[in-house]
Amino acid sequence: MIQSLKGFRDILPGDVEVWQHMEMTARDLFEDFGFKEIRPPVMEKTELFKRSIGEETDIVGKEMYTFKSRGGKSITLRPEATASVVRSYIQHKMYAVEPVRKLYTIGPMFRSENPQQGRYRQFYQINAEVFGIASPLIDAQLIFMLMTFFSRLQVKDIGAHINSLGCKKCRPEFHKALSVLLSKVGDSLCDDCNKRSLKNPLRTLDCKVTSCRNALAEAPAIVDFLCEECTEHFDAVKRFLDRQGISFEVDKQLVRGLDYYTRTTFEIQTGLLGAQNAVAGGGRYDGLVKALGGPEQPAIGFAVGCDRLIEIMTLDKKAYMKNPSVFVAALGTQSMDMAYGWVCELNNIGIPTEMDYSGRSLKSQMKRADRMNAAYVLIVGEEEIKKGEAVLRDMNTKEQALIPLNSIVDNLQKALKIRNTKHETRNNIK
Ligand code: HAM
Repeated sequence: MIQSLKGFRDILPGDVEVWQHMEMTARDLFEDFGFKEIRPPVMEKTELFKRSIGEETDIVGKEMYTFKSRGGKSITLRPEATASVVRSYIQHKMYAVEPVRKLYTIGPMFRSENPQQGRYRQFYQINAEVFGIASPLIDAQLIFMLMTFFSRLQVKDIGAHINSLGCKKCRPEFHKALSVLLSKVGDSLCDDCNKRSLKNPLRTLDCKVTSCRNALAEAPAIVDFLCEECTEHFDAVKRFLDRQGISFEVDKQLVRGLDYYTRTTFEIQTGLLGAQNAVAGGGRYDGLVKALGGPEQPAIGFAVGCDRLIEIMTLDKKAYMKNPSVFVAALGTQSMDMAYGWVCELNNIGIPTEMDYSGRSLKSQMKRADRMNAAYVLIVGEEEIKKGEAVLRDMNTKEQALIPLNSIVDNLQKALKIRNTKHETRNNIK
């Protein structure tokens, strides 16, 4: 038997309904906050990720699914979405008409990490990216939006951790201080970190190797080296978060695993997932649009890890199961013929209806309806056709009523008290 690849999972019916609810909540949230959807491809030129995420990162160095195309070009399954959204923003000159863009995208990402709880090789992200706004107001508003999302999904046990990674102006001073330490502890660092010390010292602070972590436990924090503008920006973010009643922790060690960040970075962490404690992460990347060939445009965004979020959502799965409203138990060819017509009509007007297609006994059809959790069973056999009435059984109360065969659909609509189309029903709930 062929099994799925390690770290690649099926999301099955029964679970998928909760995923749909999460995605619908995200789409509603984005609409409320003025975001538009964008759907970039899942494969890009490898160079895009190398230039944006950074060659010294674990993602680019160790985790990308990179192949040669038939034409010999290096292509990569996206390990994250930000690079693609930035590429698209530049490629389609979105900045030309209106530089301020709020974009979101939902979809799978691919990283060849060692699978464990909360860590998969194909995983899903909900991404938000904002272009063209330099003000710290948007940093705080994005974190507010993220917390609103979690609260709409009734997620508990999470906290916002924030930091500032400074800018081009303040980083050199910090790198100098860090390099002094790195040159002292070189023997305790892994080979990667020894390379990073020379090329990209900040990345050493993100290393997961225990000896590196120990050696760098007392490393200087970039937040203590911020220039005046970065300090003002970070103070403003904190003030705006306070104003919205968002509690947060300043986490000086939070460096994030991607090179493009500048100034504000943040993670939403949970105590419920062991080592994989980040349910969402993001930050500012003011230099990336320019670095990838676009104009100078500030940008900021985040990604929620859907797989992790699902694991900490406390909502009752059963509440999201979509069960048929009606199961038509038809006995005999003539009844099946009629049932077929009702099922098509009811499905068409948005009433989920099922029937048995193989002429089984009433007992086994009733069992099936029960397993499917149908709200009503409509029973029709030779006897009912003769009388011109079918039996409608409420599967919850077990009450039965007779309804005329010539007004089955009308009567079911009344019994179910639902609107004619699913669309209207959904809008009502909204
Ligand atoms: P990231 O921190 O690499 O950031 O990923 C964001 C979230 O994706 C993580 O917090 C985690 O919940 C989830 N995640 C990452 N890797 C895995 C995995 N192997 N299995 C399951 N979940 C995972 C980014 O990707 C940035 N692009 C976020 C961003 C958007 N920054 C600015 N804009």
